[in-house]
Amino acid sequence: MESLSRRCITHSPQETIYLGEKLGRYLEGGEFILLQGPLGVGKTVFVKGIARGLQVPTSVYVRSPSFTLLHIYQGKVPLYHFDLFRMKQVEDLASIGWEEYLTGEGVVVVEWGDKFPSCMPSYLSVKLDFAEEENDREILLQSSDKKYISLIKRMFP
Ligand SMILES: Nc1ncnc2c1ncn2[C@@H]1O[C@H](COP(=O)(O)OP(=O)(O)OP(=O)(O)O)[C@@H](O)[C@H]1O
Ligand SMILES: [Mg+2]
Repeated sequence: MESLSRRCITHSPQETIYLGEKLGRYLEGGEFILLQGPLGVGKTVFVKGIARGLQVPTSVYVRSPSFTLLHIYQGKVPLYHFDLFRMKQVEDLASIGWEEYLTGEGVVVVEWGDKFPSCMPSYLSVKLDFAEEENDREILLQSSDKKYISLIKRMFP
């Protein structure tokens, strides 16, 4: 299966926001983005950028949905931001209406979705990692899905 990846390094939270914003501007609704990487690496910071790119007003504070599992932001299309870190069992996904979000017109972004791999549809993976310098992050955008391969190509011509 064809797969494509692009690797970026950011040197500050602001640069990670810019990269997320760039991605957000290419989103139209119906996309599914899986954010991967360890605790505190910058997944939520990246989502802040996606929200900006989707024209969620800057007055809206994007923060981690750790306890509520889901935050919804209204931009040019809805942004559904999940954090499944505290979700205990796969059955709980159904009770928060998971399937409906997947088939809706919004953009779904998920932190800690790899806990429930069988529930994830095909996705654009954004994998963040710590790097040498304290504020450096390695960010890998990767997919083997045609739709996201095309998106990555448009983002990085
Ligand atoms: N280059 C960078 N990109 C993103 N965040 C950075 C960077 N450098 C430092 N940081 C800091 O790293 C932290 C990232 O926190 P964030 O909540 O986004 O992580 P997370 O991956 O969502 O964690 P969790 O798994 O707990 O949800 C912030 O405090 C941010 O200021
Ligand atoms: Mg987070």
